[in-house]
Amino acid sequence: MPADPVAAVTHADPYPFYETLRAGPPLAWNESLRLWVASRADVIEALLMAPGALRVRPVAEPVPRVIAGGLAGEVFGHLVRMNDGPAHAAHKPALQRALAGLDLGAAHAAALQVARQVPEQSLSDTLFAMPIQAVAHLLGFAPEALPQVELWMRDFVACLSPLSTEAQLQRASSAAGALMTRFEALAAGTPPRHGTLLAAVLADSAVGAPLSRALLANLVGLLSQTCDATAGLLGNSLVALLREPELRATARTRDGLHAIVEETARHDPSVQNTRRFVAQPVTIAGVPLEPGDAVLLVLASANRDPAANAEPDRFMPVRAQRRMFGFGHGVHACPGQALACTLAAAGLEALLARVPDLDTLHEHGWHYRPSANARIPVFD
Ligand code: HEM
Repeated sequence: MPADPVAAVTHADPYPFYETLRAGPPLAWNESLRLWVASRADVIEALLMAPGALRVRPVAEPVPRVIAGGLAGEVFGHLVRMNDGPAHAAHKPALQRALAGLDLGAAHAAALQVARQVPEQSLSDTLFAMPIQAVAHLLGFAPEALPQVELWMRDFVACLSPLSTEAQLQRASSAAGALMTRFEALAAGTPPRHGTLLAAVLADSAVGAPLSRALLANLVGLLSQTCDATAGLLGNSLVALLREPELRATARTRDGLHAIVEETARHDPSVQNTRRFVAQPVTIAGVPLEPGDAVLLVLASANRDPAANAEPDRFMPVRAQRRMFGFGHGVHACPGQALACTLAAAGLEALLARVPDLDTLHEHGWHYRPSANARIPVFD
């Protein structure tokens, strides 16, 4: 059993531990983490539906102290993911509309083509390269820019982890500056290519007007939101095929690949938890929460709650009324869910052509990248 719900994220099998959490109080105080822990579907739903009282960042620290003042901190401070209220409302609709307008069939074809062109490298790095480069392509970056955009993005997301080192924080700031400049040039130099995700996001902006720093940061955010989460979804989908050989026949069709990815997003999700910070007194599941309190929402546990999904521990590619919490819920719900599943299905299609011997991969095994919230396999 893992020591606590944060250690569970990278544990070989955290799910029996999550079951013990669900059997306990609806909100359990964890003294070593100094957090309230929510693990049941109904409680997590209630927490995510109380955005006025519960915020995505601590009121006293909107930007983590270690990056505040630098370019990485500037990008972070503008992200809709990291804001509530007006800063959230200003840019979420444009992102949501642009992502909802994507033709997913065309996105699968484009992502597959990009994935096939990703150079041979370690399987664990390939998990990151395929989805990030695909989103950079959809945004409108030229093929020759994709590897560099990927490197900057991987440097930038390092600063989002509480585990990052001083050197990583410095690289993250340079990467944030470079990405902002690249997006500015892409949007302003020539009008963004028609049909790109960038053109769709900018559809409502005044023609010729300089883009605000906030909008530029949220374009960077589309790449950063893709990064760890989609690498994990792709990797965990591959792990499902290693663990359950009978699924391999399903993976032979495109619909089958999509079904495997969707069930992976429920059964073994890449984003295992998220946090909320109490801004106003609120009572959830009978527990009074006070300003300053922090809550860990174990989304991966809610996915396995029998009250949300029947036979929750079974991996079932075809499921009636699958309920998923790994993409969030309520005002901060992920607008990239359908794209993420498409990217992972296209990536899986490309990976299976590269890794024909799944049994050998299974024998070598895997562990998980250190993280407080993302479950991303590293193949040994
Ligand atoms: C498997 C991949 C992904 C997973 C598991 C995932 C999960 C999530 C979750 C859980 C949230 C909400 C966090 C919270 O409320 O605390 C979120 C927000 C967000 N995601 Fe995703 N995401 C994925 C991929 C993507 C992609 C590909 C994009 C866009 C290209 C994207 C864009 C966003 C944005 C913009 C937000 C902020 C929404 C808001 O705060 O209103 N995500 N995502």
